[in-house]
Amino acid sequence: MDTGLKNKHILITGAAGGIGLETVKTFLREGARVTALYHRGEGELPSLAADGRLTTVSADVRREEDVRAAFRHASETFGRVDVSVSNAGIANEEGIGVHEMSLEQWNRTLTVNLTGAFLCAKYFFKNLEEFPGKSAALVLVGSTAGIFGEAWYSDYATSKAGMYGLMMSLKNEIVYLAHRGRVNMVNPGWTRTPMAEGALTDVEMVKRIHQTIPMKKTATTKDIAHAIVFLSSDQLAGHISGQSITVAGGMEGRALYTPDEALSWGDGK
Ligand SMILES: NC(=O)c1ccc[n+]([C@@H]2O[C@H](COP(=O)([O-])OP(=O)(O)OC[C@H]3O[C@@H](n4cnc5c(N)ncnc54)[C@H](OP(=O)(O)O)[C@@H]3O)[C@@H](O)[C@H]2O)c1
Repeated sequence: MDTGLKNKHILITGAAGGIGLETVKTFLREGARVTALYHRGEGELPSLAADGRLTTVSADVRREEDVRAAFRHASETFGRVDVSVSNAGIANEEGIGVHEMSLEQWNRTLTVNLTGAFLCAKYFFKNLEEFPGKSAALVLVGSTAGIFGEAWYSDYATSKAGMYGLMMSLKNEIVYLAHRGRVNMVNPGWTRTPMAEGALTDVEMVKRIHQTIPMKKTATTKDIAHAIVFLSSDQLAGHISGQSITVAGGMEGRALYTPDEALSWGDGK
């Protein structure tokens, strides 16, 4: 099936990470030109054969000057950015109750995940203003945590839920800059990447995760990349905007307790 992404210019954050790298590879296979934003290291990005269709630039999405410079680099290299994917994100490795969470941790998570998405949207929209055109797509990478919540990770869940409000607002703004512009969101569930590695090597944790997923599997990075590419494509998703697609094998929520834990204080009184 033709995605129509050949020669489209995609900018993606978190491009050296698990989901980001797979998404870059998928866009390149579709013939797109890609500006890949990395943070601490380029990882495998330089090894991707792309016939001059890939450029990399380092940016910390918390810093407005970095995001501004990355978009400038993108347009100087490949012209108008047609699609922007906000994928960079962090989650604290250790869970912690809200009563013990530091303000510093709360601010750090919100700043990378939500403010980072805002800054990228801001400079993406400025680019649409500078380079008028009919179509444009913004794809935000959220999380099932933003839908179901996640005990001990309230900072992360809140940052991802906030992205929903960003999407619902920006879908109504983007059309003033690009009449056929669209804004959507992909919400991955558990996905095998460095971010989730720790939890997914713990068998008890995997059992708990699978209790909530009819397909009894965690996502591959391809599962997520394909949803991002689908929403980026005007050919395939040209009339889809303001939608949040959950890619989580039918996940229904969270198993809060093991069978033993379920009786520990829940005696019905
Ligand atoms: N894996 C899962 O189970 C899962 C589930 C739901 C949602 N997600 C979401 O999917 C997205 C991708 O995550 P992933 O699983 O692929 O994790 P990952 O491999 O850790 O990738 C995250 C990327 O974000 C980058 N990043 C972190 N802080 C940044 C900053 N301040 N500025 C710019 N980039 C920054 C990281 O770069 P550095 O490593 O160089 O800092 C990394 O490349 C995230 O938004 C995550 O919340 C993942």
